[in-house]
Amino acid sequence: MATAVRDTLCFAGSEEADEAVRGTCEDASICKRFAVSIGYWKDPYIQYFVRQAKERKAPEINRGYYARVHGVSQLLKAFLKETECNCQIINLGAGLDTMFWRLKDENLLPKKYFEVDFPMIVARKIYNIKSKPPLSKPIMESHSGESFLIDAHSLDSSRYAILAADLREAAELEEKLKKFNMDTQLPTLLIAECVLVYMTPEQSASLLKWAANTFQTAMVINYEQVNMADRFGQIMIENLQRRQCSLAGVEACKSLDSQRERLLLNGWETANAIDMMKVYSYLPQADVKRIEGLEFLDEKELLEQLMQHYCICWATKDSCNLVQASLVGLQYSLRMAKYSILCFCYC
Ligand SMILES: C[S@@+](CC[C@H](N)C(=O)[O-])C[C@H]1O[C@@H](n2cnc3c(N)ncnc32)[C@H](O)[C@@H]1O
Repeated sequence: MATAVRDTLCFAGSEEADEAVRGTCEDASICKRFAVSIGYWKDPYIQYFVRQAKERKAPEINRGYYARVHGVSQLLKAFLKETECNCQIINLGAGLDTMFWRLKDENLLPKKYFEVDFPMIVARKIYNIKSKPPLSKPIMESHSGESFLIDAHSLDSSRYAILAADLREAAELEEKLKKFNMDTQLPTLLIAECVLVYMTPEQSASLLKWAANTFQTAMVINYEQVNMADRFGQIMIENLQRRQCSLAGVEACKSLDSQRERLLLNGWETANAIDMMKVYSYLPQADVKRIEGLEFLDEKELLEQLMQHYCICWATKDSCNLVQASLVGLQYSLRMAKYSILCFCYC
């Protein structure tokens, strides 16, 4: 682990490293589109952002993405339910994610949905939005008033905004979000899906601290690697390095404890972390049964290892006791056991 961390830190932050990180967004969306194409979940919008995969993805990968997409979305929906959508969502490193459009279809839009990414990714997303009516129409339908802004690197409407910023520069991020009417008094959900791991531990800590200090009532959801100090984790790091992509933040991904600790040390009041194997077992079992029938899975052990090396963490900061109540909702939606509810409320 030590050597890998040293190597990745030398490389992190360079333009070359950032380019490799930007490439991960295409990879993630191609995998999601493939899983959607064989029926793991429904997403009519992903086809407008990325091409279909040239080769089949392994069933372990597809099931992993299924657990990731459903796990994050269950938590997100619990937050929306608890706040009755009277909240804002900020997706950090959103890439080509389609959540805004899917929430609109379900009539579950928050007051405003923000997306942030590097300028190149944002420009590509805006280009797709502008040129594809199934993407632009929902934004226009949800827009009211006159202040619609669109240029190469930002789009601001009443319910959806996307802006280019470097997440390692919190002051710049805050200024841009405020320009687009981010409201620090509104309950806020921040999402970082496979993003923090590409920043050094200091950079992700300062982003998390900024978020905890900025919003009165907030929750953050973080999906990323965990248990990276073992042999399997080492192989994951080496595979990514071979593709010029370094996990500069791998130090925080040592264990579920190190994940929780980072949140608690940076201003969050409660912090929870569970590996994806657990998330998978908490998902609605009828649907899990359905997706398990989609493809034959030869290597159950590989799936388990993979799932044990990713996790979902969530943390809250709650000045008006809103999210404490929502924890109960979260347990419900993730089908937690009674025992876990107690653990979560006190950690
Ligand atoms: C693995 S992709 C995940 C994309 C999306 N969250 C998803 O799960 O489909 C990581 C994303 O984080 C973005 N990202 C990483 N570091 C960033 C930074 N410092 N500033 C802005 N965006 C960043 C990348 O450009 C990329 O789009």
